[in-house]
Amino acid sequence: MTMNAKPGTRPANPRFSSGPCAKRPGWSLDALHDAALGRSHRAEIGKAKLARAIDETREILRVPDDYRIGIVPASDTGAVEMAMWSLLGARGTDVVAWESFGSGWVTDAVKQLKLEDVRKFEAPYGEIVDFRKIDFDRDVVFTWNGTTSGVKMPDGSAIPADRSGLTICDATSAAFAQDLPWDKLDVVTFSWQKVMGGEAAHGILILSPRAVERLETYTPPWPLPKIFRMTKGGKLIEGIFKGETINTPSMLCVEDYLDALAWGKSLGGLDALKARADANLKAVEAYVEANGFLGFLATDKAIRSNTSVCLSFTDPDVTALSDDEQAAFAKGVVKLLEDEGVALDVGAYRDAPPGLRIWCGATVETADVEALMPWIGWAFEAQKASMKKAA
Ligand SMILES: Cc1ncc(COP(=O)(O)O)c(C=O)c1O
Repeated sequence: MTMNAKPGTRPANPRFSSGPCAKRPGWSLDALHDAALGRSHRAEIGKAKLARAIDETREILRVPDDYRIGIVPASDTGAVEMAMWSLLGARGTDVVAWESFGSGWVTDAVKQLKLEDVRKFEAPYGEIVDFRKIDFDRDVVFTWNGTTSGVKMPDGSAIPADRSGLTICDATSAAFAQDLPWDKLDVVTFSWQKVMGGEAAHGILILSPRAVERLETYTPPWPLPKIFRMTKGGKLIEGIFKGETINTPSMLCVEDYLDALAWGKSLGGLDALKARADANLKAVEAYVEANGFLGFLATDKAIRSNTSVCLSFTDPDVTALSDDEQAAFAKGVVKLLEDEGVALDVGAYRDAPPGLRIWCGATVETADVEALMPWIGWAFEAQKASMKKAA
């Protein structure tokens, strides 16, 4: 019998959660010392910070000048639902999903908004919907990076630039790690809690000129709560997109986002942030290729995420188990990793196939991913041994 020795190196930071994600390297509460706490967000100091958060988001993500950027309530969910409730219903809608969060938007469109003319397109975990089937003269709701399956859009080539519908894109686990083709996207949302390692309180909502035109020319038939309302008297409330938020934001979270943006800029901006995520994915790929017991849910590299990297156990002894037993096996591995303090929160999402999900976004250090992978091998062997013992 071979000894299952523990690897010699531990990740310096074991935080691999897919949200809230690891804070940037070197972060401490001191980074927030300049927060405008106890001050009105409508005072000059608060407004200036909110406006700076918008301006720097535009700069790093290279958002076109004629797109509006707003800070809105309720994290990414708030931003997506604000867009769906405000824009949909003017024409037919296609909702596209290939994992749990996308399915949530399908539910919103079909069961909550009860849109009259709605088509849904779904693909199983690890795959993506064939976008050639989507009609972009209808409105289309989709997720750029499926956080629970580790499947991302390969690029925007399937989306015509001259579409007449709007594209509403949940990009929360893609923004700052993947290219977003702005000419193909009318609404883009994300939360600060993902690639930049910020806090989850607020969402970012980005609108193309065509999305604004829809807001100004269409009134949905259902009631809109105050926190969803972006127009007054048929005109866009421009203040929202200059930092005059609809309701009170957390200035502590704003400060934290500003800190994350400053860090991103200091690295070299979007290209550097993307490169960090790419390097992290590469470190996982190198280990998976060299060790046969693991596989990616996304077998096709073109759609494999560089942020939410989802793995399953492909070892025949594990795949021979029942679904429940495989889930228990994966949970056992996750617990061993957590007990050793080498990886926190790396279990697959509750609706996803059993396995591991390792966040590889920009705030995660590649050296930590490299240190983690052999520990997964150790935990896998240890779990297998205890399974055999129990049998
Ligand atoms: C693709 C996707 N959409 C929406 C959400 C919900 O985001 P939040 O909890 O920030 O509202 C998440 C969270 O992980 C997500 O990954």
